[in-house]
Amino acid sequence: MEINVASDHAGVYFKSRVLQYLAEKKINAVDLGTNADASVDYPDYGMKVAKLVSEGKVEQGILVCGTGVGMSIVANKFSGVRAALCHNKETAEASRRHNDANILVLGSRVLDVELGLTIVETWLATPFEGGRHQRRLDKITEIEKTLKNAPEIPADTIE
Ligand code: RB5
Repeated sequence: MEINVASDHAGVYFKSRVLQYLAEKKINAVDLGTNADASVDYPDYGMKVAKLVSEGKVEQGILVCGTGVGMSIVANKFSGVRAALCHNKETAEASRRHNDANILVLGSRVLDVELGLTIVETWLATPFEGGRHQRRLDKITEIEKTLKNAPEIPADTIE
């Protein structure tokens, strides 16, 4: 399993702690940036992970920005992406059990980093329940089929 991780400038430190945690757990993780000090735009980094997950090239992703809201909005534009902004263990668990979330989104300015790591641990350890929840996901897939929502990554995207 490979997890792709990205953040904007607000999430750089938080992301580094997530990557450190994944390395300690021997989980194969790829850092798609940013690692710059400068202010960047979260869509540029959110779309990198979301596109790979949408295309089935990567199974799961983790995105971090200040609140997690911007990254959630971006990621959920991509077909097949179910990005979950989680604030605690309960939302992390439910987002996997009920929603089969394939991208975890964290807000570095609203979460203590230790709680963030607990959320990551819970999210990765929790399986999808299927059953009635699969029926609901199938309805989301049907909605996606009626929409044109497969944005292209601009050629000049940085990093
Ligand atoms: C950056 O200042 C901030 O707007 C961003 O990290 C995020 O919170 C957006 O939703």
